[in-house]
Amino acid sequence: MKKTIIKGTGRYLPPRKVTNEDLTQWMDTSDEWIEQRTGIKQRYWVPEEGGVGTSDLALEASKIALDRAGWTPEDIDLIIFATLSPDIFFPGSGCLLQHKLGLETTPALDIRQQCTGFFYGMATADAYIKSGMANRVLLVGAEVHSTGLDLSTRGRDVTVIFGDGAGAACLEGVDTEKSIGILSSCLHAAGKYAEALMTEAPASRVNPRLTVEMFEQGRHFAKMDGKNVFKLAVKRLPEVSHEALDKAGVSLEEIDLVIPHQANMRINQFFQKTLGIAEEKMYHNIQWYGNTTAATIPIALDEALEKKIIGPGSTVLFAGLGAGLTWAATVYKFPENSISR
Ligand code: ACO
Repeated sequence: MKKTIIKGTGRYLPPRKVTNEDLTQWMDTSDEWIEQRTGIKQRYWVPEEGGVGTSDLALEASKIALDRAGWTPEDIDLIIFATLSPDIFFPGSGCLLQHKLGLETTPALDIRQQCTGFFYGMATADAYIKSGMANRVLLVGAEVHSTGLDLSTRGRDVTVIFGDGAGAACLEGVDTEKSIGILSSCLHAAGKYAEALMTEAPASRVNPRLTVEMFEQGRHFAKMDGKNVFKLAVKRLPEVSHEALDKAGVSLEEIDLVIPHQANMRINQFFQKTLGIAEEKMYHNIQWYGNTTAATIPIALDEALEKKIIGPGSTVLFAGLGAGLTWAATVYKFPENSISR
């Protein structure tokens, strides 16, 4: 039976480091507030003058992942691109990345599931691979948030948490009876909470899609009911994790590392306690990157592999919640003979 395994990973962060202190030049905030409430110390943003889009960050992460997988771009059967911040309104960033990789006709699709985009992407890749529609899938999660953030005090609750970045994974189908690769995927959505976290404009339901009034009201910036999202996250993350563990037939004790979506360090500390897993088994890197949305999971995965916290034979639980609302978890077991660094 076909199993979906990770052959290579890569990450890329743009070079402009923005510390909490740097943010105080634009808005009324403080290093102390941001670190205490979120755990974030700094994030990376694309150059202020523009010219770098989401697919540019994705290209850099993809090149590293392809190299580590031993693939050339021509080996890719399908590109799946997860982002809430596509380079342009349409076509999708997957198509732009496909061209930047020098490919002519390889199919490419975008996934607009925000913080769970990489989870939906893993499940989609797994389904394509198991159905025989593709055997080598390049899955990317990438975001450029910084060009869409309200730098005034009005937007400070949202602006301080987001960073730019990209992560990529090469996923391949292998024929084996062993219990390896993606062991389970659990995906959920609740559209009734769409307004708890959304960027409203430009909007096709409004004519024209962005009016001067909407622009002045800042309706093209993300709005978040942070407290509500926080409460839902600490409830849903343990719930979906147990669902994914049960589906995979894996116990919590068999998990070597939990890689949660990086939205807020406090959410993940609550999650760790409710789940009942040791502190050192919960991966955090939000301090350095902020919330890079669809990129948090592949960036953290790539880092954890590089630091050798996980490697051949490790079992990892991924879990996340974000705009939609959507929430998801995946259990993955690395084969014994692969992905060493
Ligand atoms: N600096 C200083 N003060 C601030 C800031 C800031 N950056 N932001 C808000 N404040 C103030 C508020 O104005 C408020 O002041 P008041 O008490 O005088 O009215 C006070 O701090 C408390 O504000 P809250 O919004 O209630 O702060 P909270 O403790 O809820 O923290 C936060 C806000 C960090 C956003 C938190 O709610 C959170 O992390 N929520 C979950 C985020 C999340 O998981 N999102 C999903 C993923 S993202 C995605 O899917 C795209």
